[in-house]
Amino acid sequence: MRADGSEKEVTMKRFLPLVFACLAVAAVIAIPASAAGSSKSSKKVSSGDEQYLQTSISGDRFEIIGGKWAKGHTKNAAVLRMANRLVSDHSKSLSDAIKLAHSLKIDVPSSPTPSEIWELKMVSALKGKAYDHWYSSLEVYDHVQDIDETGTEVSTGTNSQIKDDAKTELPMLKKHLRLARAALAANAKP
Ligand SMILES: [Fe+2]
Repeated sequence: MRADGSEKEVTMKRFLPLVFACLAVAAVIAIPASAAGSSKSSKKVSSGDEQYLQTSISGDRFEIIGGKWAKGHTKNAAVLRMANRLVSDHSKSLSDAIKLAHSLKIDVPSSPTPSEIWELKMVSALKGKAYDHWYSSLEVYDHVQDIDETGTEVSTGTNSQIKDDAKTELPMLKKHLRLARAALAANAKP
């Protein structure tokens, strides 16, 4: 019995390093598995991500329509500078956002939101100095809201591709806000 016991002890001691080695290998295998899990979660699209991307697409359409209409409504240099920039930047932004939405199987809005359509109709019904002032004012308020929503997606969004898109948009939106403020400063309330 005693001989058997010590034999078992020797066998255990011999196998202990093997047991520890196996545990170490299991731990190494487990690390990439959990890392893969976290990258999987960043591919997930939350309802907030989806709403952000769709709002951004509607907003791009709003800016492009408003900017194109401005060319037929004003000769003011500051308003035209803003409008031209809005059309070119938001056309690129729209194209990028549509590609991203398709790749993530998110529905693409085909028009601005109903309230944005109303805003465009109201402003385009104005003429001369009233148009220059209120279109510039609309673009100031609109970009303040855009920057707020985009910043929220950057800080609280889930999907890494949509968050990256939001990060790319922020400097552009801030530039547009500066142009809109300059246009508003050049066109006081009549
Ligand atoms: Fe903009």
